[in-house]
Amino acid sequence: MSGRYRVVVAGVGKRGMHHALAFQANPRFEVVGVCDIDQSRAEAAAAKLGAPVKGTDARQVAGAARPDVFCFCTMPTVRSELIQAGIESGARLIAFEKPVAINSIEGFKVKQLLDSSGVKAVISHQHRYGEHYQKVKEIVSSGALGRVHTVYGTSTGWMMHMLSHLVDYTRWYNGEAEAEWVMAQAAGRGKFTDAHPSPDYLAAFIQFANGVRGVIECGAGAPDVPEVDYWWRKCRIGAQGTEGFAEILTGGGWRAVTKSGVSSGGGCMNYDLDMPPYIQQMADWLDDESKPHPCRFESAWKGFEVMMAISRSVAFGGQIAVPLDGPADELDLLKQKVPDRKVLLSMAANAKEYL
Ligand SMILES: NC(=O)c1ccc[n+]([C@@H]2O[C@H](COP(=O)([O-])OP(=O)(O)OC[C@H]3O[C@@H](n4cnc5c(N)ncnc54)[C@H](O)[C@@H]3O)[C@@H](O)[C@H]2O)c1
Repeated sequence: MSGRYRVVVAGVGKRGMHHALAFQANPRFEVVGVCDIDQSRAEAAAAKLGAPVKGTDARQVAGAARPDVFCFCTMPTVRSELIQAGIESGARLIAFEKPVAINSIEGFKVKQLLDSSGVKAVISHQHRYGEHYQKVKEIVSSGALGRVHTVYGTSTGWMMHMLSHLVDYTRWYNGEAEAEWVMAQAAGRGKFTDAHPSPDYLAAFIQFANGVRGVIECGAGAPDVPEVDYWWRKCRIGAQGTEGFAEILTGGGWRAVTKSGVSSGGGCMNYDLDMPPYIQQMADWLDDESKPHPCRFESAWKGFEVMMAISRSVAFGGQIAVPLDGPADELDLLKQKVPDRKVLLSMAANAKEYL
């Protein structure tokens, strides 16, 4: 198809506007409708984008605009009802924000809706388009690390914000291998009342089917990345092998040590640079079945199962097998289990978030 795909964006806060502007800037898309439960936001976005359809009810806006792509960027608690709205509108692709859901009851609902409708879906794990993320992928894939035995990711930001990203990119560096089991611990209850409800600190091991070990830390106790000033970008994600390692710092480039020596380069997470290729690959997939989007739901679901297995391990203790054996309310299980003791910090800069 050479025409423009029609797009509706629901939830036009920070990420919704990032998406809407990136769709509008791409000649393969036109934003024909916007929606937000906050009417003034919907009106401001419609005026800015020149979108003819606007409103506060996603189902109505999508029904009137009949999009090819239904995109929504709401808080993590709002998922399946908007998937349903997208499917009913006749959209061929639904693009939505991470995490897939806050528990697997909702996650399985989303999966069932998508599987039974056959509608394509894409989840916004767009950091991977950063030049530093791409460079590390290139080094890992080249074989320069020898046999990869460990992939790892840490972030100072908390679970519902960051775990989805950490698991997605470590899985990517590990060739998207299936996970077999996880084991985890968590501490601190402060962020359970946040809009991204989470324990304050979480640490996990992942056993992948190809024998690679995943190590993840997320939140108040995760190690500092002193090379990076911007708090949200204090993330370190990489791979170690028999002949070296390669890693990114989300806000501070990449570095590697391999048999051929020490190397490093730039790159910093940047929405303006990461969104255009993420959006373009939606057009590529809609145009051509043989070009599935790298951030497609099928892949994100595997990461989501790991996230939920991590939560179950905290709640029940011991190892949890993946794939999940059915739905549960993992967030509620975490709330019941995480002890009522103040989280211990890994650095003073965390005190502003983890009071
Ligand atoms: N991929 C990334 O790099 C990244 C970065 C930040 C946030 N996020 C994710 O993006 C999502 C949104 O975060 P944000 O920072 O844009 O939040 P935000 O609060 O700025 O925007 C959310 C918007 O959704 C609207 N909304 C809520 N329910 C709605 C509904 N039923 N119908 C229509 N609109 C509705 C709200 O009124 C608000 O305007 C979250 O899931 C968050 O985790 C992803």
